[in-house]
Amino acid sequence: MSASTFAIENVRVWSDGLSLAPEAFQSVVLQNGKIAWLGRTNTLPNEYSDAKCLDAKGKLLTPAFVDCHTHLVFGGNRADEFAARLRGTSYAQIAASGGGIMSTVRATRALSLDQLIDQSLPRARNLLAEGVGTIEIKSGYGLDFENERKMLLAARAIGRALNVSVQTTFLALHALPPEAKSGDARRLWIDSVINDCLPRLVDEGLVDAVDAFCESIAFDLAEVERLFEAASRLSIRCKLHAEQLSNSHGSALAARYQALSVDHLEYLDEAGVRAIAQSGTVATLLPAAFYCLRETKLPPIEWLRSAGVPMAVASDCNPGTAPQSSLRLAMHQACTLFGLTIEETLAAVTRHAAAALGLHDRGQIAVGQRADFALWDVQSAAEIVYWLGHLPVQHLRL
Ligand code: NIG
Ligand code: FE
Repeated sequence: MSASTFAIENVRVWSDGLSLAPEAFQSVVLQNGKIAWLGRTNTLPNEYSDAKCLDAKGKLLTPAFVDCHTHLVFGGNRADEFAARLRGTSYAQIAASGGGIMSTVRATRALSLDQLIDQSLPRARNLLAEGVGTIEIKSGYGLDFENERKMLLAARAIGRALNVSVQTTFLALHALPPEAKSGDARRLWIDSVINDCLPRLVDEGLVDAVDAFCESIAFDLAEVERLFEAASRLSIRCKLHAEQLSNSHGSALAARYQALSVDHLEYLDEAGVRAIAQSGTVATLLPAAFYCLRETKLPPIEWLRSAGVPMAVASDCNPGTAPQSSLRLAMHQACTLFGLTIEETLAAVTRHAAAALGLHDRGQIAVGQRADFALWDVQSAAEIVYWLGHLPVQHLRL
């Protein structure tokens, strides 16, 4: 038996599709960072009987959660815009007057790599403290090669510092930098993002996926398609901020490029649902942004459900529309605001969130999956979603 064999005993294993409060005490054997065996504690095979073991004393084991959409690397904050929105100014109005994403771009550009890591680390720590083991982090507040690269490097450094799995997404088309506002400059800037920044960042190994913001206040379908074409030629998978503030039909475009996920989706129509159902694209719901923008248009949950589209839920942690470094709060919001069930919400931060990142080695407790878990002192998995605020959890990464 290898020295790295480890067993968690007397644990109640939560499993997607099964009871929220499993009764039976099980053991999970871990070898070389993966699940090697899983079953009733009293049927543990002899070969594992002298593995180092942890007595879980009946606690509930889930896969470590996956936060599959965050912008948690950024400088500064936008509390002033929050105040303005409370006085009635809209998100689009703030963006049009040079605030919004652009104010975070200015604050992010002003920081060194180390300062950016320092400002962003506490947000990642908050996620980890609630059982998250994989975090997707987007760039998109640099808007030039050096600053986008700085953001992606900061994201990777956070992964190493916290010993957590970080997936980096190059959010190539998030906003236009001030230096590229006019017609020709806009086209030239997009050219440089696609033909210069993208391949260089891919060459450095910093790009796990690309993303864009498809919206009337951001980028149109033709512009997004150019990015997706270029990314596909480099074998990089696509994601898209789609139908957040209006129906731009971005989801149907993303489906044509077999995108990993389309995210937000409040204004998604039935044709868009059919398109992503066919392409197997994950629908990522971001209830924190819905909540913070006081949006009233609900994403079409019933259509997504009946079309069998996998739904993920993420924090969207960002300084503008979701200053929320809590995935558990997003889970609660997905239930209370969007009407997801507890079971759907748990699948949405495990199996479906992993799929939204193209990862199939995590998100389930099954033989062969990564040994990355959260151990909860709760009676039932519903408690994980029910409690607002503190809920102690032990992150087990072996
Ligand atoms: O996911 N929609 C665009 N991007 C972010 C918001 C970014 C910002 O306002 O800083 C989002 O909501
Ligand atoms: Fe986002």
